Amino acid sequence: MPEVTLTTLQALKQRGEKITMLTCYDATFAHTASQAGVEILLVGDSLGMVLQGHDSTLPVTTADMAYHTACVKRGNRGALIVADMSFMAYSTLEQTFQNAGALMQAGAHMIKLEGAAWLAEPIRQLAERGVPVCAHLGLTPQSVNVFGGFKVQGRDEARAQQLREDAKALEAAGAAMIVLECVPSPLAADITRAANIPVIGIGAGADTDGQVLVMHDMLGLALTGRSPKFVNNFMAGQSSIQEAFTAYVQAVKSGTFPAPEHGFSA
Ligand code: KIV
Repeated sequence: MPEVTLTTLQALKQRGEKITMLTCYDATFAHTASQAGVEILLVGDSLGMVLQGHDSTLPVTTADMAYHTACVKRGNRGALIVADMSFMAYSTLEQTFQNAGALMQAGAHMIKLEGAAWLAEPIRQLAERGVPVCAHLGLTPQSVNVFGGFKVQGRDEARAQQLREDAKALEAAGAAMIVLECVPSPLAADITRAANIPVIGIGAGADTDGQVLVMHDMLGLALTGRSPKFVNNFMAGQSSIQEAFTAYVQAVKSGTFPAPEHGFSA
């Protein structure tokens, strides 16, 4: 795969070609996924749940994120690497610069921050310093204790409007991409249409510019034995992980994943 850059992603959005993204935490899977054509590898702080066995992403540290980002960089063959900043690692601007710097130096091409319009200032300042930022909106797992669980966001019109405004504000501040998690499919379609930057969905329906899944989920490896409604098991019917990744890329590109039953209504 030729090297994927922000320019590549922007071109994919412009021509309506769906963007493929998967979480990834080590060199072997980075090699396999990038060879299968996955365009973005997300070193997600979901590693706290799927690798470390915690019940949330909150215990993950910047050192954990930098370690796994460096592992992914070594195996990657051309995908764009996005690394999550961990819980409370971007509470002040000073902390934000230091921790974003650690992830970029470990091999990330972009960092991801969870939040809302309050992220505008850190995003502006990071972009000015050469750090592209992906803003994560909707169900932001680091706020699980505020939401009272992993719940669909934006079901009432006031919250939906807030999410539309947050997306616009963060794009205006300089965000290069948005991840939209667990929001009703029509709302995700609205936000995607209004955005000039790629919007990648997870549990957000088929009308975003691309899709992301947690790798362990799409390989049918749920620790709890139960997968979220928006997940498809791409390992089913395949004889290798390489084939499962290829099936995922083909399903997203052709628009057969996600199907209507993977989405949420308002
Ligand atoms: O950490 C992660 O895996 C994520 C995805 C759920 C988008 O942020």
